[in-house]
Parts: sequence; structure tokens; C-alpha cells
Amino acid sequence: MIWLIGCKGMLGTEIARQLSQNKIDYTGTDIDVDITNPKALAAFAFGKDISYIINCSAYTAVDKAESDADFAKKLNEDGPRNIATLANQIHAKMIHISTDYVFDGAGNSPYTEDMPIAPIGVYGKTKAAGEAAVKQNLSEHYIIRTAWLYGWAGKNFVYTMIKAMNTHEAVKVVNDQKGTPTFAGDLANVIIQIIKKDDVPYGIYHCTDLGEISWWDFTNEIKRQAFEFGLLSNNTCQVNPCATSEYPTPAKRPVYSVLSKEKIQKTLGITLPFWKDSLSVFLKSELFDKGRIE
Ligand SMILES: NC(=O)c1ccc[n+]([C@@H]2O[C@H](COP(=O)([O-])OP(=O)(O)OC[C@H]3O[C@@H](n4cnc5c(N)ncnc54)[C@H](OP(=O)(O)O)[C@@H]3O)[C@@H](O)[C@H]2O)c1
Repeated sequence: MIWLIGCKGMLGTEIARQLSQNKIDYTGTDIDVDITNPKALAAFAFGKDISYIINCSAYTAVDKAESDADFAKKLNEDGPRNIATLANQIHAKMIHISTDYVFDGAGNSPYTEDMPIAPIGVYGKTKAAGEAAVKQNLSEHYIIRTAWLYGWAGKNFVYTMIKAMNTHEAVKVVNDQKGTPTFAGDLANVIIQIIKKDDVPYGIYHCTDLGEISWWDFTNEIKRQAFEFGLLSNNTCQVNPCATSEYPTPAKRPVYSVLSKEKIQKTLGITLPFWKDSLSVFLKSELFDKGRIE
């Protein structure tokens, strides 16, 4: 059986949907089994035959983390340590989700899994510490770093921008941070493939959609496609580029955080989807939540 932790979050909801679709036996928990409480984790696992634990729970509020470092550490470092320790005891493998924010973003070519990490904010630092805690406590681990995630469940950039473009005459978006948007459906599909294969070498993998763009590029394409698919009442909203310096946020973000997908594609023998194609899948689906863009 698979134990999906964080099953009510944006990625967790999508993984749960795909596990069901693939008829893979799983059980899901979220805040009801607190990852910061080792006893609660052990009590839940006791008596169950768990082969994989997928950890999607995390402290994901990047800006809020700057003034809430202790709590971010509890969820992003102590929680994964507790899960990995338990996984070791019950002989389960662990798939842990991490982030491009473990890199400082000073590079200008895609980050590979073996490149040194150097997080620049509390969120990235606590996620990096979570990776280390998993590695130290469990050899049978997969750490999957992803980036710029959006999915049908949960608040995300795509819903936010369509709503903004439906209600404003102009939006300003940074054009000097580069990365790759990732549809949660694509990442969930990769995780399902790892479980189905059951012989993928342990270690760190990078997984995002394909391509390299700025948030401003992303917004322009969201506008174009959302209008084409009838999700924008008109396409007159101006999408104005701005520099990160014009849009100060509590947390510093990596300027360049494109991840190399070579290792995961080679290992699984797949080609990941191009970000624009996945955006279409997301927008055209009946699972798209129109309530979030009104
Ligand atoms: N979102 C992105 O753009 C992005 C980018 C790169 C990497 N990632 C990584 O991808 C993973 C999934 O992200 P996501 O956006 O799907 O996250 P999310 O929507 O914030 O989901 C996290 C889930 O964990 C739950 N949770 C919080 N505290 C918990 C606790 N103590 N015990 C058990 N569950 C708890 C949350 O419940 P509440 O909502 O009730 O707190 C929520 O349902 C995370 O590891 C994140 O760091 C995300």
C-alpha cells in the first residue's frame, strides 16, 4: 500500500487522483496525521503494509516563511526527518518532494542534481535541510525537486493571473526571473511511473515541464490560451513587464532556477511535456475550477 502524506494539498490531490485512476492501493493523510509528531506518524503506520510513503506536505508560503522560520523548519526539516526515520523502521521507500529554491539562482544553464545547493531564503534553507534529513535517515529515498507548480486543486499562479486579468485593466509581472512552470498532473504521472517500475535507482531527481521562460512570458501565454478557451471575458488586459527590484517581496527568489530534466527522462525513458502544452491540458479540463477565476 502507498501512504500519501499531504493528500489535500495541490500536488497531493493530483497524486491521489492518479493513484485512484491507476487502481493503486493507497491511503491518504494530511493535517490529521501531523508530520511533526513522530508518535502520530507511527500510530498511523502501525499494522499497515506500506511499501512507499509519498511526502507532499510542506510549509509552502515562501514569503511568510521569512518571519515564521521556526514553524517552516518544523514542517520542512523535522517532518521529513520523522517520516524518513519511520520509513526506515517499517522498511518503506520514501518519495519526498523538494524545490528549485534550494539553488541560489546565480547560474545560467539548467541545474543538474549533483550541483551544489545554496538556498537564499528561509523556505529554500528549510527544504534543503529536509533533503539532508531524508538522506541521513533512509537510503531508500527519492528526492524529487520541482518548480513553479500549478494544479487544479489549490491556489496557484495560473488561477491568480486569470482572475487578475478578468478584473483589472493591467497587471505587472516580473520578467527577470527564469524557470519552468510545472503542471502537477505531469509530476504526479512521473511519481506513479516510479512506483509502477519499482526498480528506479534511489537518489535525487529533477522534474519540471520542459522549457525556460520568465513569469512575464508565462502570463502572456496564460492570457492567450485563457482567452482562446473562453476563460477570459476579453483579452484587453495589459501584461506589463517589471524588474524584481520594482516588486519587493519579503523572500529573495532565485533569478534563474531552470532544472535539468535529463536524469529523470533517461531513467524512466520518457519525454516530459512542454510547458505550453501542459498549460492547455490544465485550462481545457473539466477539472479546471472556474470558481477560482471569478
Ligand atoms: N507550489 C509550488 O510552486 C512548489 C514549487 C516547488 C516545490 N514545491 C513542493 O511541492 C510539494 C507540494 O507542494 P504543494 O504546493 O502541493 O503544497 P500545499 O498545497 O501547500 O500542500 C501541503 C499540504 O500539507 C499539509 N500540511 C501542512 N502541515 C502539515 C502537517 N503538520 N502534517 C501533515 N500535513 C500538513 C497542508 O495542509 P494545510 O493546507 O491545512 O496547511 C497541505 O494540505 C511541497 O514539498 C513543496 O515544497 C511546490
